[in-house]
Amino acid sequence: MFILILLFILSCAYYVYFRQNRKPLYKFSQSLPNTGYLPILGHTHWFLGGPERVLNNIQHLANLVEDSGGISKVWIGPSLYIVSLNPEDVQKILENCLQKDSSYRFLQNWLGNGLFVAPVDLWKAHRKVLLPVFHNRIIDDYIDVFGEQGDVLVERLRDRLDKPKFDVFKYITSCMLDIVFETAMGEKMDVQHNPDTPYLRARNTVISIIGMRLFKAWMQPDVLFNLTPYSKLQKENIDLTHKFTDEVVRKKRILFEENCYEQKLGRRDLLELLLDRETKFTDEELRDHIDSITIAGNDTTALVISYALLLLGCHPEEQEKVYLELKGIFKESSRCPTKEDLNKMEYLERVIKETMRFYTVVPIIGRQTQKELKLSTCTVPAGVGCAVLPFAMHRSKRIWGPDADTFNPDRFLPEASAKRHPCSYIPFSYGARNCIGRHFGMVAMKSILANVLRSYKITSSTCSRLKIEILLFPVLGHMITIEKRH
Ligand code: HEM
Repeated sequence: MFILILLFILSCAYYVYFRQNRKPLYKFSQSLPNTGYLPILGHTHWFLGGPERVLNNIQHLANLVEDSGGISKVWIGPSLYIVSLNPEDVQKILENCLQKDSSYRFLQNWLGNGLFVAPVDLWKAHRKVLLPVFHNRIIDDYIDVFGEQGDVLVERLRDRLDKPKFDVFKYITSCMLDIVFETAMGEKMDVQHNPDTPYLRARNTVISIIGMRLFKAWMQPDVLFNLTPYSKLQKENIDLTHKFTDEVVRKKRILFEENCYEQKLGRRDLLELLLDRETKFTDEELRDHIDSITIAGNDTTALVISYALLLLGCHPEEQEKVYLELKGIFKESSRCPTKEDLNKMEYLERVIKETMRFYTVVPIIGRQTQKELKLSTCTVPAGVGCAVLPFAMHRSKRIWGPDADTFNPDRFLPEASAKRHPCSYIPFSYGARNCIGRHFGMVAMKSILANVLRSYKITSSTCSRLKIEILLFPVLGHMITIEKRH
């Protein structure tokens, strides 16, 4: 009995201390509109349910935020977030808050201190070293790989000619995996012909456990997660993926130390380039960076390509314009796209940009204030989460006009883009911690789409049911049918 009373008193004391310590946070919270807030629960109930329901709730919350003046608060358990759909505020957040939100910690067991999740100080030092490795000149050397793998994809899709509709995503994601593995670590995996290996299964298992944990409030504390069977499963599969990359890094380092690169002509993969930088990374740091790059670069690009096919399949006029542009560039040639060819694909580039507006594959970006941040209508104290919702901003009628829900690639004509605030369109985020692979992604997506759309005519129906599983997925898949172009 005495112990129970003591525990009760200690808990009360801790609670008072906890509240007292966070007084500035509560004061700040009271100054913001109470959109969708319930006493005690805060907004936690908005994040319960499956991935489709959670996305719809977030969209609904975003509409409320927009109606209440563009800035609001969200309490998830004990964590306070501000949400803003205002491009000016979003610019301030993305320029000033370089620390990722605490929810990214679920990725840390896997990606360690890779760029994607690294704490700010380490990130600053490492981003400087990685930037030159993603230079346009280096990406130019990978254009042949994009073309070769695009050809394999076209060949594989032949099986689906004139057959019932099918989910194109699994074909595209295998193609992108082959591209990122070859360019990032020089591994020719041939996933397109061997999609089911223990390594890939392990990778998918880890991604789905982390995705599930992000939106299941009760799985978030480590003590509770460690009681579930998922904890062991996650550890086993992370170990398996680490073993794979460790082995690649080990072999590359031996070659590097034997000076084999000096005799190596032509293209170098990203890992070789990183080994050759003046700043020497440890094997573990190299593994973290390479794993982060292959994970950040694969499903993102594969999703945009699949969504572009889906959209063109139900917008035949726009698809015809892309086809005519490609016909004008390639004439009767079936060569892989060269750098010059890709530079000429202006309409296709607008289609890709509009696809990333319409279906924003990284729907949420989470940051944290480390010091006070002055926004248009309030000053956010240190230690507050900042949720940026590109997927909601990209469909905002206030930003894009009354036809925001219409697919129109010409929104991205240079004169139309110049009139918009730079943060009204942020598929690759914005500021110093934006996507380091955006040029890589853009060139790869153009090359793959050019190969597929030259060969096949796509048909599809619209897709409106979406879900959030870290990235934005269609509930019913990317279903299309294809017929041969003559
Ligand atoms: C359509 C394709 C892509 C999209 C939409 C995309 C989007 C993004 C976004 C929004 C971020 C910031 C995330 C955040 O702050 O939470 C990001 C970061 C990152 N992306 Fe991409 N990405 C794409 C392709 C790629 C590719 C192809 C690579 C590599 C080959 C890549 C590597 C990275 C890395 C390493 C980061 C972390 C950067 C840092 O924190 O400094 N991404 N990406």
